[in-house]
Amino acid sequence: MASFLVFTSYIVVIFCVSNGYINGVDAARAFFVFGDSLVDNGNNNYLASLARADSPPYGIDYPTGEPTGRFSNGLNIPDLISKELGSEPTLPYLSPDLRGKKLLVGANFASAGVGILNDTGFQFIEIIRIYNQLDFFEEYKKKLSVIIGDEKAIRLVNRALVLISCGANDFVNNYYLVSNSLRSRQYDLPEFVNYLISEYKKILRRLYNLGARRVVVTGTGPMGCAPSELALRRGPNDGCSTELGLAASLYNPKLFQMIVELNRELGSDVFVVVTMDVNGVFENEFVETKKACCGQGPFNGIGLCTLASNICQRREDYLFWDAFHPSEKANKLIVEKIMTASTEFIYPMNLSTILALDSKINNVV
Ligand SMILES: *[C@@H]1O[C@H](CO)[C@@H](O)[C@H](O)[C@H]1NC(C)=O
Ligand SMILES: *[C@@H]1O[C@H](CO)[C@@H](O)[C@H](O)[C@H]1NC(C)=O
Repeated sequence: MASFLVFTSYIVVIFCVSNGYINGVDAARAFFVFGDSLVDNGNNNYLASLARADSPPYGIDYPTGEPTGRFSNGLNIPDLISKELGSEPTLPYLSPDLRGKKLLVGANFASAGVGILNDTGFQFIEIIRIYNQLDFFEEYKKKLSVIIGDEKAIRLVNRALVLISCGANDFVNNYYLVSNSLRSRQYDLPEFVNYLISEYKKILRRLYNLGARRVVVTGTGPMGCAPSELALRRGPNDGCSTELGLAASLYNPKLFQMIVELNRELGSDVFVVVTMDVNGVFENEFVETKKACCGQGPFNGIGLCTLASNICQRREDYLFWDAFHPSEKANKLIVEKIMTASTEFIYPMNLSTILALDSKINNVV
């Protein structure tokens, strides 16, 4: 049941940034976000979805102290990137507040529980599958055109930063959801990984065709080390899950390869891949890297995070907030890495390099 009600996500990010003039106002670069619970700012609040984070103690460290639908005790990765851009956080696309001038900030289309495949996350009932997120993006562009005109709308989108996170749920909430799953009978693991990567490539191409020109794509991170996986299928000596570790070790290099290929085909570094090895990188930054701050059962990795759960006192000591998701402090460290790390973490360049590069280009235009 635990993995049933969970919505992971690790990292494939897409970034597009801009520093353009919109209607004579020096607007910050717009920001668009796609994918799963790692980056959902609250779209699922508006759906009949089982994958939701709109009850306490979610949001306990958010500026308002209230739950917002973010799968974090506080800020999530998109919030922290918005800060780097000098922008307010992106609103969920389904929020009634996303209209008028707010559209110029960008939008967040992400929905907890989704994966690359359409059959991933069916158990959450209502989610916005990735193709629907792209359909909403098309709809968004039309709304934007009405406000600022076609030409400026296209420019805003071309100059935007885009972040996309998906893939982990295709393993956790599909292939490995139950033993002997439909997908695991259809494909062995290497075949499934190849299938995911080829489907993901189509999604990224569509994003490009819709005007995205700087897209940060996150890898899955060490999926097998999340508290839920430690609770359900830990390896020897309370180590990470061997099968999910194997899945990540097959998927992430293939993702990297696909991104390199795609950029070559497009003749430009549109896509930037983040290799999200959270545990390895942040081991020394936390007192507790295995157990979730909020949850129950072994490693606090079973079931949902609610007010009835164990909740840790010092949230900044924990790598994981709940059974699947990083704590705010972990999100801060991840975004710091995205900004400044070397090509081993983010390839072919880090976000501060991208921002510097693109602001030069955009100032010339
Ligand atoms: C998922 O659904 C979309 C649209 O509904 C479709 O275009 C796409 O081919 C589907 N993907 C797979 C792998 O079947
Ligand atoms: C990443 O960013 C930092 C600081 O912003 C910069 O000094 C560094 O050279 C960059 N690294 C790479 C590999 O581009």
